[in-house]
Amino acid sequence: MKQVSEYIQANKDRFIEELIELLKIPSVSADSKYKGSVMDAAEVVRKSLEKAGADKTELCQTAGFPVVYAEKMIDASKPTILVYGHYDVQPADPLELWDSPPFEPVIKNGKIYARGACDDKGQMYMHVKAFELMMQTDQLPCNVKFIIEGEEEVGSANLETFISANKEKLKADIILISDTSMLSMENPSITTGLKGLSYLEVEVTGPNRDLHSGVYGGAVANPINILCEMIGSLKDENNHINIPGFYDNVLEASANERELMAKTPFNLEDYKSKLGIDEVHGEAGYTTIERKGIRPTLDVNGMWGGYTGEGAKTVLPSKASAKISMRLVPNQSDEEITEKFKKHFESIAPKSVKVQVKPHHGGEPYVMPIDIPEYKAASDAIIRAFGKEPVPVRAGGSIPIVALFEEVLGLKSILLGFGLDTDAIHSPNEHYGIENFLKGIETISYFYESYSNSK
Ligand code: BES
Ligand code: MN
Ligand code: MN
Repeated sequence: MKQVSEYIQANKDRFIEELIELLKIPSVSADSKYKGSVMDAAEVVRKSLEKAGADKTELCQTAGFPVVYAEKMIDASKPTILVYGHYDVQPADPLELWDSPPFEPVIKNGKIYARGACDDKGQMYMHVKAFELMMQTDQLPCNVKFIIEGEEEVGSANLETFISANKEKLKADIILISDTSMLSMENPSITTGLKGLSYLEVEVTGPNRDLHSGVYGGAVANPINILCEMIGSLKDENNHINIPGFYDNVLEASANERELMAKTPFNLEDYKSKLGIDEVHGEAGYTTIERKGIRPTLDVNGMWGGYTGEGAKTVLPSKASAKISMRLVPNQSDEEITEKFKKHFESIAPKSVKVQVKPHHGGEPYVMPIDIPEYKAASDAIIRAFGKEPVPVRAGGSIPIVALFEEVLGLKSILLGFGLDTDAIHSPNEHYGIENFLKGIETISYFYESYSNSK
């Protein structure tokens, strides 16, 4: 493939400027205050695909935010790559912890700082630019379709309906996604698995109103104390999850797979120091790489109740709540685990309180075999761009639509991500390396070629 790096070199300033314009749009899907901006982002993405050379672009309406669809069909007998990404972003708060405003992108030390810089606007936009490059240099080797959604960060509920209703339109041979991370620029990797997710909210109710913590304390159940005890009991001293049947369907990694994982270039000291922690924490008997990639986990994501304002207020609250996520691995299912959690959590509640478990959105896990030609094509593209063979790594994050792509469209997804775990996605000061952005465009361009040649 000719001119790839030349084209990127000659156009990189414009690529970055365009990404910065996209990052200025606060497309927060979770917050209705930003509805107009989410719609604006969809239109900007559609336009960018039209300008890049798509013959057909549309904003497909759903019950929620539109799906941006675009295609360039060069020859029906050639293979088709379906690119997926998302233009919505997580809420930016806590705002006070950002060094610069989340929707006023700045470049510092070779990185673009903004909400969505990495997840996923920066990574999604690499695909728009790789497509532009292939069109402009007249070397698109296969057909390409894009679906860029605006509800990934809120569970992709309407995308499922969209793909089920548009199977013909989305007909393709492989799905290509950049919405994950790699180990480092020195040690490129390919994501070979995503975790499933069961996310729920629990509410513990004690007395019918807030009480004086002296007058009633010690005599009536305090829902916050009880909730803490209940959550505390969900794991044993080995950080093994205590919910009955929780591990029933967990596919244990073979000795061979574990041996391979142990070879992952990963520096634990560096990992700890970057997080400011003295020790890691997790399930006994497993390495950090294994805990992240192949073991299911349970975490409280938020917890509230009682008085949290300034100063002291002596109160025994009526209610306490928590949001809990469980990350799942093959062959656990969201529904199964949600049900097991609910049953267990209700069963451990003392009679002195009432418990309510409310499930939110979830998703199923996904694994990508490494012995298929599509993996090899991705690996070859990375070798060409980075000069090094990538290692397969199972991710801890979730993209629930990926399992549905397989179930509904019968298609595998290649997870070719260029973010780093330290890019602070979902956190203040999210950023994306310009080098990662440009290398990503280069690798994606090579993938088109190696993939097309492998067919
Ligand atoms: N891009 C992330 C998922 C991700 C990040 C996978 C890093 C692997 C490595 C995605 O946007 C995301 O945040 N997903 C959510 C799930 C969703 C249902 C809200 C997640 O993982 O929490
Ligand atoms: Mn994402
Ligand atoms: Mn995300």
